[in-house]
Amino acid sequence: MHRTHTCGELRLADLGKTVTLSGWVQKSRDLGGMTFIDVRDRYGITQLTFNTDDDESLRSQARELGREYVIKVTGTVIERSSKNNKIPTGEIEIKVTSLAILNESKLPPFTIEDETDGGDDIRMKYRYLDIRRNPVKNSLIFRHKVTQEVRNYLSALDFCEVETPYLIKSTPEGARDFIVPSRMSPGQFYALPQSPQTFKQLLMVGGLDKYFQIVKCFRDEDLRADRQPEFTQIDCEMSFVEQEDILTIFEGMTRHLLKTIHGIELDQFPRMTFDEAMRTYGNDKPDIRFGMKFGELNEVAQHKDFAVFNTAELVVGIAVPAAANYTRKQIDELVDWVKRPQVGASGMVYAKYEAEGAIKSSVDKFYDQEDLSQWAAITGAQVGDLILVLSGPANKTRAQLSALRMELGNRLGLRKSNEFAPLWVVDFPLLEWDEDSERFHAMHHPFTSPKLEDMALLDTDPGKVRANAYDLVLNGNEIGGGSIRIHDRDMQALMFKHLGFTPEQAQDQFGFLMNAFQFGAPPHGGLAFGLDRLTAILGGQETIRDFIAFPKNNSGRDVMIDAPATIEKAQLDELNISLLRTQQ
Ligand code: AMO
Repeated sequence: MHRTHTCGELRLADLGKTVTLSGWVQKSRDLGGMTFIDVRDRYGITQLTFNTDDDESLRSQARELGREYVIKVTGTVIERSSKNNKIPTGEIEIKVTSLAILNESKLPPFTIEDETDGGDDIRMKYRYLDIRRNPVKNSLIFRHKVTQEVRNYLSALDFCEVETPYLIKSTPEGARDFIVPSRMSPGQFYALPQSPQTFKQLLMVGGLDKYFQIVKCFRDEDLRADRQPEFTQIDCEMSFVEQEDILTIFEGMTRHLLKTIHGIELDQFPRMTFDEAMRTYGNDKPDIRFGMKFGELNEVAQHKDFAVFNTAELVVGIAVPAAANYTRKQIDELVDWVKRPQVGASGMVYAKYEAEGAIKSSVDKFYDQEDLSQWAAITGAQVGDLILVLSGPANKTRAQLSALRMELGNRLGLRKSNEFAPLWVVDFPLLEWDEDSERFHAMHHPFTSPKLEDMALLDTDPGKVRANAYDLVLNGNEIGGGSIRIHDRDMQALMFKHLGFTPEQAQDQFGFLMNAFQFGAPPHGGLAFGLDRLTAILGGQETIRDFIAFPKNNSGRDVMIDAPATIEKAQLDELNISLLRTQQ
């Protein structure tokens, strides 16, 4: 038998028991006549003692143990003389009577401690060692708990978990596909799904009524802290529902998670239209844990001889709380920050609200106290605040000020990881103009239903048509999104036409869906949560990597298994990839 107990289990109540434990050597210490070994497994750490008086050979065997050796010990549970109240097993130790080495270990390339000396690259290369560390191990266990609660909640509401295929067909919409060559159909390719969108709709046509799936999705896009090329969705779809039904059920799920995982009871989630989110926060996923709402200053800041503002489409500012005392140096640093290419502002105007009637600005030449007090009123600045103002083309300027707002939110400690501020963003535009291809793209995806009252605008002003689409935002991150779908064949054909598809292209790409719509498709809708993001944010972080057992690095590589990699010529031949074959 390898163990009677885990390394996290024994307490004072177990004194006198003979026990067997197995685990990894965390560390060893020699103190006078005693040798102490900490043995660790997933569940915790237990101290082992070896005493010279008892058995010198056993003790010398213990002294030989290296870090991360796998051992099995048998001994008696005794009370510790000097207790460690930092760990649950800290009141006891095991007086060892037999020790076996189950496996030796090379010296690990970084310390297996909560605070490790290993950098990102080395930790990724030896991810299995990284997983032995509490922060990573606990994140994976946390993810399991979130997943389990999701299954509990949805199963209790009669959602049925169904698997959909991974080898599907490439479609032009959305991100780039990952492609898989077919051996049996030479020259043809499968694509890995970016989401199970069309399949879940077909399950609704199939009458399944309520579907969910915790499912891998694949997107060949550039990586960021909250993006991986393969990630997991909690993908859901329901029949005979309207937007309100979906918001209610999935607000309920999010509330269930916060309650079961953090014991937090949230009020009804606020809602904001896309337009309002853009105007107030410059962003369609605003972090509403803190204020610094945008104040549009065109009316009060233009026509005053300040050419920069006069010629701008938008003049917009925020009030930074208690920052009127920033030094020149601090403000210059912020100006440099917004001028970095990643943000792209050409400059920034500031006004320090030092006292009533004493607002000092960088543009005092053009604006008097009365003007500046209007700026304060519009941005909501109080005495002691610093007003920061950007100007330029509306969309770009909003994005720049939004980046600055988030940066200041971080710097000022306003984005507290144990505070949860969910928000539904609704009424997204149906279409968005793409400068590169010079045509409209579906903002969400081509299966999203337009708002019926906006249908007439499809021909006259397509950019103004709103969709029955919604996102769930948590702490400034988009954790989920979805829509009510088109379930009418003609409407779907019309949508493809507006997206620039010829009828032949639409039939070729999505004929299977349009055909299905001819056989009694029910009204339906749904959404998908990003499980990695949801888990990370519930876990108080924004980087999803440590909530994924084996993530890719920033170049999309798995450095542990060294993928992607070249393949043998014979394998290429078998797959009929002639282009690559001639290049080899
Ligand atoms: P969408 O594309 O908005 O919707 O994706 C849903 C959610 O998945 C998460 N997500 C990601 N997480 C990590 N890495 C990525 N690369 C990544 N991309 C997306 C986000 C996002 O909110 N089929 C539709 C859903 C629907 O309409 O029902 C869809 O895929 O949290």
